[in-house]
Amino acid sequence: MRYNFITKITVLGLLLNGFFAIAQKTNLEVDIAKTITKIQPTMYGIFFEDINFAADGGLYAEMIKNRSFEFELPLMGWQQPNSDRHSMNKQSGIATTIKLSENITNANFCRVIINDDNGYEIINEGFRGMGIKKDARYNLSLKAENHDGAIKKIIVQFIDKNKKVLGETSIAPTSSDWENYTAQLTAIETEAKAQIRITFEGTGTIDLDMISVFPEDTWKNRKKGLRKDIVQLLDDMKPGFLRFPGGCIVEGRTLAKRYQWKKTVGPVEDRETFVNRWNSEMADRPAPDYFQSFGIGFYEYFLLSEDLGAEPLPILSCGMACQFNTGELAPMEELDPYVQDALDLIEFANATVDTPWGKVRRDMGHPEPFNLKYIGVGNEQWGVDYIERYKVFEKAIKDKYPNMIIVSGSGPFPEGDYFDYGWEELKKLNAEIVDEHYYKSPEWFRENATRYDNYDRNGPKVFAGEYAAHPKVENGPKENNWEAALSEAAFMTGLERNADVVHLTAYAPLMAHIDAWHWAPDLLWFDNLKSYGTPNYYVQKLFSTNSGTDLISITKDGAALTGQEELYASAVKDSDKKEVIVKLVNTSAMSKEVRIQLNGQRLTGNATLVTLQNSDLTGGNSFEFPENISPSEEKVKVDGRNVSLKLAPYSVNVLKIKSR
Ligand code: AHR
Repeated sequence: MRYNFITKITVLGLLLNGFFAIAQKTNLEVDIAKTITKIQPTMYGIFFEDINFAADGGLYAEMIKNRSFEFELPLMGWQQPNSDRHSMNKQSGIATTIKLSENITNANFCRVIINDDNGYEIINEGFRGMGIKKDARYNLSLKAENHDGAIKKIIVQFIDKNKKVLGETSIAPTSSDWENYTAQLTAIETEAKAQIRITFEGTGTIDLDMISVFPEDTWKNRKKGLRKDIVQLLDDMKPGFLRFPGGCIVEGRTLAKRYQWKKTVGPVEDRETFVNRWNSEMADRPAPDYFQSFGIGFYEYFLLSEDLGAEPLPILSCGMACQFNTGELAPMEELDPYVQDALDLIEFANATVDTPWGKVRRDMGHPEPFNLKYIGVGNEQWGVDYIERYKVFEKAIKDKYPNMIIVSGSGPFPEGDYFDYGWEELKKLNAEIVDEHYYKSPEWFRENATRYDNYDRNGPKVFAGEYAAHPKVENGPKENNWEAALSEAAFMTGLERNADVVHLTAYAPLMAHIDAWHWAPDLLWFDNLKSYGTPNYYVQKLFSTNSGTDLISITKDGAALTGQEELYASAVKDSDKKEVIVKLVNTSAMSKEVRIQLNGQRLTGNATLVTLQNSDLTGGNSFEFPENISPSEEKVKVDGRNVSLKLAPYSVNVLKIKSR
């Protein structure tokens, strides 16, 4: 009897389950025929800032830290293990630094005195080591002044932590004046934490400067170029713009320490080394050895934008130092040099080579203009002081370059007094694009998928210039968990649905060195050899490579899908690729049946469903499992006007239907 009762209950349960499964099927309608608005080609871009060793030690492939002895402690990064500067005993050798003058950039060089042949060595530790790959070639260059010709050979070796030699070359310094020398090393093993050791043959004095080692295999094989694996990840995103050089780094803690683009162009060895503001910004993650060599300067940023097919978007200081630090202000009557920097930058990027700054660009190897269209005034500034300064910039830029699009800012928070004041004032000024920043919880992102639904359609456009979901874990890479990425995807359907207002968007920060990071989460993680994309990266990539050209509607019972039943959706068509693209995010722990009715065009055949999914919200990617959470593809049938899908729990789904 009892058995029968349980059986009946189970059967009833299954029937009810089936009933609810059918009842829960979500019916959606996509209106293919009607374009709501154009999707801007800049919709999904990237934000670059030299934080977390993103430039020196990261994207910039230089392997020698403090190559020109310009850090505040000029021998930082260099060790002389068998030499004690403080000992009165006779040394085998000793390196000290000499400053030529206070008035020139890169004034320091290193004087090495070798007293005997007892094995004096000087070692560079790299950026938390140097990554070398078996059989790969590395280009060495240095400047040397071999005073009396006494030093016969400079021997340069890769070594591991046991001082095993992993590659070697040498230079015969022939000149008693400063001379450039080059040579090449081949690594005989792969090692993530190699160092460079320099030893000498002969005794006497030699001066050294700009000691540099780059992999030969760089992005586009450019000499002294960028790390290929990292740029490849960026290139795969097909970003619509590249914002540079930050972030707070633009502002500086004081005005003297602001980012000055003019100091970052021209010959690399003449660019002034600068302390990086992130060096001590995070008290719990200090990095006293974090400096900016500006090996990647504004020219390199423009070139990278061009390589990526991305609009360059430089952000400049507006005469206000970081308001979280000193908040130092350039007085209004002393704002001219700041404004001039902006005007000169436009000349550098766009003008003919017979202009002073156009000539600098030409001399660096790019006579053609970079076609700069956007320029940002200030980063996270707020208050009356910002608006006052913004007005001056706007007038000067528009007077000379009426077509230049100016990006203004609404401060560091996505709501509150600073934000409201900034927006109100910028609206009055008919500002074109306003930058908003939000680092918030995953819940916030899910709840804010409707954030832009009620923005003024006639007001300034939005640049969601820095955002990331910050989950409640504090563990560097683990902060890039699936819950955060999934919530960003849900939110991004809201960005896309509002593409008439939202013109540019970017996740931030972009990347972090696993041994030298300050700020997490980040879109990419790298060590000295490898790099990988986080789940957040794959979300960004899915949106940016499927951005489409025209926004179309996707609705349930006539309303946008913004979290009802934990589902979010947006839809576009791509008139170039002839595709209809539907993005569906399921943030629930249950799978969901959806039936999509396609109105306005009859589509048949097979469609592609790309899915990014993980059943564990705390899961993520890692160096060991870089593609643990990454997209997979399957074919689904389009039946005339309908497609039925079963959306996996916790999934981001991109359905691509060819429309011929
Ligand atoms: O992305 C990291 C920092 O966050 C940026 O430098 C700044 O603009 C924001 O506060």
